Order: sequence, then C-alpha cells, then structure tokens
Amino acid sequence: MGGESKEQDHHTGERKRFLYVVVCAAGIAGQVGRLIAAAQEDGWDVGVVATPQGLGFIDQAAVEARTGYPIRSAWRKPGDPRPLPPPDAIAVAPATFNTINKWAAGMSDTLAVGILCEAYGMGIPIAALPCLNTAQAAHPAYRESLDRLRSMGVRIGSCEPEFRWEEALELLDPPARP
Ligand SMILES: Cc1cc2nc3c(=O)[nH]c(=O)nc-3n(C[C@H](O)[C@H](O)[C@H](O)COP(=O)(O)O)c2cc1C
Repeated sequence: MGGESKEQDHHTGERKRFLYVVVCAAGIAGQVGRLIAAAQEDGWDVGVVATPQGLGFIDQAAVEARTGYPIRSAWRKPGDPRPLPPPDAIAVAPATFNTINKWAAGMSDTLAVGILCEAYGMGIPIAALPCLNTAQAAHPAYRESLDRLRSMGVRIGSCEPEFRWEEALELLDPPARP
C-alpha cells in the first residue's frame, strides 16, 4: 500500500484521512453510496475495494464518480501504480458470510480479503458490518470467525434491528466521552 491522497481539507490544509470501504456481494451493497456520502461528510476521503462478486452488486460508474477513485477489485500487475492511497481505516460493509470466514481463516484469495488480512499486521483500524441471513449465521464457523476477528481488534457492527451504514463510521470514530 502506498501513494498520497490528492484531497486536502479546505480548513486545515492537512491531508484528509483515507477510508477504504470494502464491499462484498450482498443484496444491500447497491446502497453503498449512503456510506460513502456519510463518510465524506465526516471528513474522510474514500476509496472502494469490491470483491469480484461484489462488483456485480454496485453501480461502478456512480461509485467512482462519487469517490473520485477507481474501484479496486483485482491485484495490480507488478510495476503498475497503486490506484489508491494507503488507508487510515477500513469499513467492511456489507461483510458477507463468505468474506468474514475467509478473512478470519487468513485465506487471501481476493484483493479485498488480502487487504483485510494485511491490515491487521499494519495496525489499521477496521469496522465490519455483517449482512447475512439467519441460516448462514447458524453455521458454527461463523461464530468462531467473529470471535477471532474480535480478538484481532476488529469492531463488529450489531446490524440490529436493521442494517445501518453509519454504524461503520461510529465504530471507527466513537463519540468522545464528556
Ligand atoms: C441477490 C443475492 C443476494 C445475496 N445476499 C447475501 C447476503 O446478504 N449475505 C451473504 O453473506 N451472502 C449473500 N449472497 C451470497 C454471496 O453473494 C456469495 O456467498 C458470494 O460468494 C460472496 O462473495 P464475496 O464474499 O467475495 O463478496 C447473495 C447472493 C445473491 C445472488
């Protein structure tokens, strides 16, 4: 990961914090523009990394127009430039059963999971909003995966009583205590 953010905060002149939004192939992924807009309102610069399956669930042109960055989904070739600046934090939303279990097991077979696996070693804060049905959630591997991710410091959303995109930002930026 490398490169520099092209956006600077208009008030402070400092480089904006850069958020990766990792998008998996769940039905709700088409609404990811809500999270991107909310993050931008909170002062984040945003880049999207989609799983190869997740790409088919989002409006790629709309996402790229909103973020100003290409969506990453596949590994670059050796020597290609890095399309996104390095992340200050990562929001995995929606996080699928498949990606959660692979991430916890360290199975780095998509760029998205590869970035998540490396982010732990780099100390990058991560929030994940799982989105799965009750049959998937009943699988014993899922509970073990969540336990492992929590032990790695990943902030897991409750997604109850409904999926709330802003929860990812709240988990990354908890309100200051008075
Ligand atoms: C219309 C549709 C909706 C889906 N919704 C979900 C979902 O909400 N959660 C989930 O875990 N999988 C869902 N799936 C299944 C995933 O797309 C599938 O497991 C896929 O392999 C996940 O890939 P990824 O984790 O690399 O994004 C859905 C599939 C389809 C076709």
